Formats: sequence, structure tokens, C-alpha cells
Amino acid sequence: MRRPFIAGNWKMNMTHLQAANFIQDLGDKYNNKNNCEVAVCPPATALKSVKTIIDSDNLDIKLGAQNMYYETSGAFTGEISPVMLKALGVEYVIIGHSERRQYFGETNSDINKKTKAAFNADLKPIMCVGESLEIRESGKAGQFVLSQIEECLDGIDEESMVDLTVAYEPIWAIGTGKTATSGDANDMCAAIRKKIGELYGKKISETTIIQYGGSVKPSNISELMKMSDIDGALVGGASLEVDDFMDIINYQGSQ
Ligand code: PGA
Repeated sequence: MRRPFIAGNWKMNMTHLQAANFIQDLGDKYNNKNNCEVAVCPPATALKSVKTIIDSDNLDIKLGAQNMYYETSGAFTGEISPVMLKALGVEYVIIGHSERRQYFGETNSDINKKTKAAFNADLKPIMCVGESLEIRESGKAGQFVLSQIEECLDGIDEESMVDLTVAYEPIWAIGTGKTATSGDANDMCAAIRKKIGELYGKKISETTIIQYGGSVKPSNISELMKMSDIDGALVGGASLEVDDFMDIINYQGSQ
């Protein structure tokens, strides 16, 4: 059984004070009837204050970062290392989000290095893949996403794979209000699982958590979570509203 995993990607929103208020509010209203793994990924400047409240209020919410560099330390002005995140109590780290690829030029090779560095620091990567609208319309989305998977996982060993989450986020569905149909999203997640099976064997492919991301909201989460190969969601916009995020965590499940 794969445990459902809902993560909120706050992107570049909220000062550390706003983030502290938000997590307190979320903690007050917290309810998790599906027993999901839940994580929030605030901006780097808010990690510490969010973690302090998670700990002091004993919240069952994990802390994730949105990015990191792959070196441990050194002359890399402006970057944050995996070791620094780990020391703050970060457990997850989003790697290779399409906004990092699109605006900051991250390549599959960078993402591969970051994923390896995350494992080396005992962080759990949420590794993002997904195609643009142009690629989807050309009919080559499957091929494109599976080659992202192959390149981003190059050289990653079997033992590390237990801590990997894959997030399939079609770029055309991010922040646009357009969601992939649950069937299309599931087909891609199933194809990703099959590829992981080819690379690492059936056992690992059956336990790997694959999230869908792209305009996930209270109104579409239950449908998505019914799908055979969608194990959770990486939620952007709707994770910035406490009530919406709570409704997403408490989707209509099998209970
Ligand atoms: P969205 O973002 O839910 O606002 O579409 C998802 C993401 O980019 O992770």
C-alpha cells in the first residue's frame, strides 16, 4: 500500500512572519482523515519559523524546501546546500520544478546531481517532471517525460529509491486552472511507474509515490486520488488557503 502524500508548494509567497501565522492557522484547523503524509514547502527564509511552530505545536506536518544546490559548501553565492536544509529539520526537497527549469535554466543533468545530493544528505527529493503544451500537442508527451525520468535518475541506486517521490506536473496545467483529466494524468503516472519498473524492478515501482500536480483544488482532488497510479498531489495555489488545503488533504477517499 502506498500512503497518500499531499505536499503544498508555497512558491515565492509569504514572509517568515506570514508563514508562521499560516502554519499556526493550519495547525488549529488540522484534520487528516485519510492519514496522508502531509508536507509544506515554504520559501527558504521561512523554513526555520515554520519548523519552530511545527515542533512546538507537535503538528503532524513535514517540512520541505523548494530547491537546493548540489554542492555541500563553498563559493556558490546565494545558494543553499542540502546539509544546511537538513540542519534546519527539513525532510523533503522539491527538485527540478518546471519553474526552476523554465526561469533558472535547470537541466535534467542538474536535477540528477541535485537528486543525488539530496539522498547523500538524507533528504527525500520530490523530483518533478512534466511536458509543455507544445510537446503535449505534438503527441510526444510520454516519450518526453520518460526521458526526463531516465536522465534525472541516472546513476541513482536502488536503496535510495525508497525515499524518492516523483511529481508529474504538466507545465500547461500549473497555475492555469487547467487540470489534466484524471485519466490522462493517471496514464502518465502509470507510464512513469512502468519506466521505474524497467529501471529498478517491480517491487520498487510498486512502492514509489507518484504525485500529480497542476491546478489541484478541492473540486478535483477526489477524482484524481481515485486513480490507480496517482498517490498524492503537489499543490501550488490552493495550498496558500488554509481551508482549501485542508479540503484537499481530506479528499473523499475510500474511508
Ligand atoms: P498549482 O501549482 O497548483 O498552482 O497549479 C502546482 C505546482 O507548481 O507545484
